[in-house]
Order: sequence, then structure tokens, then C-alpha cells
Amino acid sequence: MSDSVRALVAGNWKMNGVIASAEELQQMATDLGSADPGCEVMICPPSTLIGFFQRIVGDGPIEIGAQDCHVNEKGAHTGDISAEMLADVGATTIIVGHSERRQNHGETDSTVKAKAEAAWRAGLKAIICCGESDDQREAGRALDIVGTQIRASLPEGATAENTTIAYEPIWAIGTGKVPTIDDVAEMHAHIRGTLVDIIGDGANKMRILYGGSVKPGNAPELMSVENVNGALVGGASLKAEDFLGIIAAYNR
Ligand code: 13P
Repeated sequence: MSDSVRALVAGNWKMNGVIASAEELQQMATDLGSADPGCEVMICPPSTLIGFFQRIVGDGPIEIGAQDCHVNEKGAHTGDISAEMLADVGATTIIVGHSERRQNHGETDSTVKAKAEAAWRAGLKAIICCGESDDQREAGRALDIVGTQIRASLPEGATAENTTIAYEPIWAIGTGKVPTIDDVAEMHAHIRGTLVDIIGDGANKMRILYGGSVKPGNAPELMSVENVNGALVGGASLKAEDFLGIIAAYNR
């Protein structure tokens, strides 16, 4: 069952970080050392830093991921970056369908699905994001919205090995607001049920991350909820101390 799934704590740096930010990464790597942190650990910096960060973490416990990719392998797409290019500089994983991409770049479920397939094509894993707005939650539609997003964004061929789901209620991102523990449990159980319905028993091993205002203080409670197999962390992943504090939820 899902409790046997090894958790993942991933940091999404969004459009933050320059060369000097490597200090934070270095501190994370030093503090984690070679002991088992109790979960997988990943930092997804801006694309400009992926190659540099990969050289810093080497074969240590921190993986480096990306935040988005183009659906094509190459071509006339000024300013875009392909999954193959991200693989080339050492990314292991690509976040696709973050609500900031869906909202600010008009990405639809079918774009997100194509991007997840692009990640796989390049030999990388995909973290597929979903989550409802505050209006949708107020209207009692959160479960429906997220179920629909998953059905339309998950490509055929998704497995626990090539895909992770991240549930991020839009209203909890960067706001300091978090859903109640009961709401998190209800949503994650709903996502698990939807995944099992789509791909069968293998979905019991697929990670479902929670994201939205995860901090060291609330991580132990959030991470102990059934079907929560880790976190996708924004703001608190920028500082080594905070990010390590969240990882510590798995290390007690
Ligand atoms: P915050 O942790 O800053 O709320 O961001 C969450 C997020 O969007 C991670 O992808």
C-alpha cells in the first residue's frame, strides 16, 4: 500500500536563484551528508542553474529537476527548452502542469500530458501537478476538478516509476494557508482512487505529493497523512535551513 512508498521532498525554486544561490544547495548537501535522509530529495532550480547544480550534488542524495519543458525535442521554438536538453545537463525529473504554468502560460491538460510524455521520451520522470482554485473549493468542486485534471493530464503508460503526482491547491501556494488535515486526507485518498481506477494496482506505489505553504512547522503533520508521499515545496526550499527542516519530518 501507499505507506510503503518512499517519499520525495522536492523544492521548486520557481524564478528564483542565481549562481550565488549555490551556497544554499551546498549547505543542504553538506548537512545531508551521506546518511539516508529517510526520503528522496530534489531541488528544481531555474534551467540556467541545472547543469551547475548537478555538478555540485554529484552522486549525493540530492537530485536535480526542472520546472517545465517544451513538448518537442528540438526546433524553431525561440526561448524554449526541451526535455532532452534538460536531461543533457543532468536533470532527472521535470515538473509539468504547475498551476503557475497553467494560469500564466495557458497550459491545458492536454499540453501537460504532452509535456509528461516529452519527459519520458528523454528518459526523465514527470511530476504532474494538479489543484483547485479557491472558488472551485468554495463551490464544493475540488474533488471533481482534481479528478478531471488527473484523468486528462496523465498519459497512457504512466507508472509509479515514471510519474509522481503533486496536489497543490492554488489558494495554498505562497499564501501561508493550508487545507485542514481532513481535507488533505480526503483529496489524497480521492487522487489515489482515481489513479487506481486509471492504471490499476500499480498506482498504489505512485507518489502523491502535497504542495502549498509547506514549512518545517507543518511538515510533520502534513507528511503523516495517509497517501501523502512527500512534498513539493516552493518558498521554504530556497533556504537550506527551512528545506532541511521539512526533510527532517522523514528523519525522526
Ligand atoms: P509555496 O511552498 O511557496 O507555497 O509554493 C508551493 C509550490 O507552488 C511548489 O510548487
